[in-house]
Amino acid sequence: MHDPILVPSLLAGDHAALGASASTVARLGLPWLHLDIMDGHFVPNLSFGPETLAALRRDGSTLFFDTHLMLAQPHLFIDSFAKAGASRLTIHIEPAFDHAAAFRAIRAHGCRAGIALNPGTPAAAIEPFLAAVDLVLVMTVQPGFGGQHFRDDVIPKIAQVDRWRSERGLDLRIEVDGGIDVATAGPCRRNGADTFVAGTSFFAAPDKPAFAAAFAAL
Ligand code: DX5
Ligand code: ZN
Repeated sequence: MHDPILVPSLLAGDHAALGASASTVARLGLPWLHLDIMDGHFVPNLSFGPETLAALRRDGSTLFFDTHLMLAQPHLFIDSFAKAGASRLTIHIEPAFDHAAAFRAIRAHGCRAGIALNPGTPAAAIEPFLAAVDLVLVMTVQPGFGGQHFRDDVIPKIAQVDRWRSERGLDLRIEVDGGIDVATAGPCRRNGADTFVAGTSFFAAPDKPAFAAAFAAL
């Protein structure tokens, strides 16, 4: 089982000072930053684009950019996000496009590839792609907005992906995203999750070193 990683989501950072919010994460010694990219189509909200990633790189950030593409047509943006400095590109299973080709394009850029699924999407939908990725993102809220309540009905899906991972000897991380705090991370961890995206709870935590330590101890 992988060590637990806390991955702060910049969506809950200071949008007038995103470089400072990224630096807060780096100063804690956390290796990854989660970047939520929204297009107003796949999800009913807008957030950042590739220029934001490029600007964070120019500002000196060397964090692993865990980039979550909530886009109806993510395959059209792989080049621009890879060139902007993404480390991982995670694409959703729900929109119709050639997922296998998209994973090949992501890897051809030297990026890691992930697949994401919404709370209403059965685990079986992503099964054909398990060997093409090294991260499965199980959404624990309907994507689009930070600050929503964690949905515990997705826990059996985390357990199913964990079973496939062990039965098939896959080197996958299982990431959860949405409504994650120390309390909701516990049942996710016990069912196989190892990668914990936290936006609201991270940026609101008054004692961030203690918050990070609690995730490291999961
Ligand atoms: C939701 C995004 C999340 C979001 C999580 O659509 O994918 O990454 O930032 O925010 P919290 O932790 O506030 O639920
Ligand atoms: Zn996300």
